[in-house]
Amino acid sequence: MKIGNLEIKGNACLAPMAGVADRAMRELCRGYGAAFTVGELTSVKALSLGDNKSKEFLEVHEKERPMGVQLFGYDPECFKIATEKAMKYNPDFIDINMGCPAPKVANNGGGSALMKDPELAGKIVEAVKSVSSVPVTAKIRAGYDNDNINAVEVAKIVEQSGASAITVHGRTRPQMYAPPVNLKIIKDVKQAVSIPVIGNGDIRDANDAAKMYEYTNCDLVMVGRAACGAPWIFQQIDAYLNETRYIPSPPISERMLTLLKQVKLMIEYKDEKTAMRQARKHAAFYMRGIKGAAAYRRDCGELKTYSDLERLCFKVFNEHKDDEIGY
Ligand SMILES: Cc1cc2nc3c(=O)[nH]c(=O)nc-3n(C[C@H](O)[C@H](O)[C@H](O)COP(=O)(O)O)c2cc1C
Repeated sequence: MKIGNLEIKGNACLAPMAGVADRAMRELCRGYGAAFTVGELTSVKALSLGDNKSKEFLEVHEKERPMGVQLFGYDPECFKIATEKAMKYNPDFIDINMGCPAPKVANNGGGSALMKDPELAGKIVEAVKSVSSVPVTAKIRAGYDNDNINAVEVAKIVEQSGASAITVHGRTRPQMYAPPVNLKIIKDVKQAVSIPVIGNGDIRDANDAAKMYEYTNCDLVMVGRAACGAPWIFQQIDAYLNETRYIPSPPISERMLTLLKQVKLMIEYKDEKTAMRQARKHAAFYMRGIKGAAAYRRDCGELKTYSDLERLCFKVFNEHKDDEIGY
């Protein structure tokens, strides 16, 4: 599929996840075939005011491409200034966040609050489009809440305003990330617009991805939480959808090696202290499904150095090496 004139290969892309899908995770997921990656959400207000920390979120490196940077806010003028700044980092596309449920975003008029004001959502797309030389996309929810399921209306306005693709997370704001996902609304959006539609929500494996495609007829699927501690999910989805081939999740030895690789990259890209603090949650993700995971996750919470992580990975491997057959 294409986002504007940007060629996208693969069947599943990596969802933006603030504080989780950082450069190391994006790079790793791309390596396993993620169709594209998206940076952590960045405040247009902070960017307009020259905040340096926010600028870090705009950096795009070769191994993460194709990569979009994601902006949030509510003021079209701030979006313009922020987009001009973002363009200096050569993103492959600019994504506008219209789905974030967090109070500090939505209570200030940004993220999912834009679902309540489709006209403003359209003006924001127009503003970004007017200064962007790359495609513009939007990521929306099913609606603001259950009484206002208006993704179709928002999608049409976003399309008319110049967006090149739209991601639909099939949930409302109050649902946050809890099931069920409303696949019907994704299907309805796909029928209502002619730009590509990316289906998102609760894809845990290749089978879920196939179901999302089949039911909604979407152009691409987006995977968030299931890629945490399992970056190989993109390879599994591609193998299943392209060749009906089932790739089992890797054995524990390989999982632990991948975790070490990811944290090594985090240390390379951040300082060790920050990286190791954030590595605790990634390490816990990698323990998912392993016998004794609860105790290992407690150990993850204590990690301070890379050597601590190496010791933990070896312990996990050692305690499971007899059932090393993959699952
Ligand atoms: C920890 C976390 C952080 C997230 N941060 C963002 C974000 O910055 N921007 C965004 O558009 N969505 C964000 N999301 C939502 C995801 O992109 C995705 O829409 C959601 O997790 C549903 O997909 P999943 O069921 O595959 O996880 C976040 C989700 C999680 C769990």
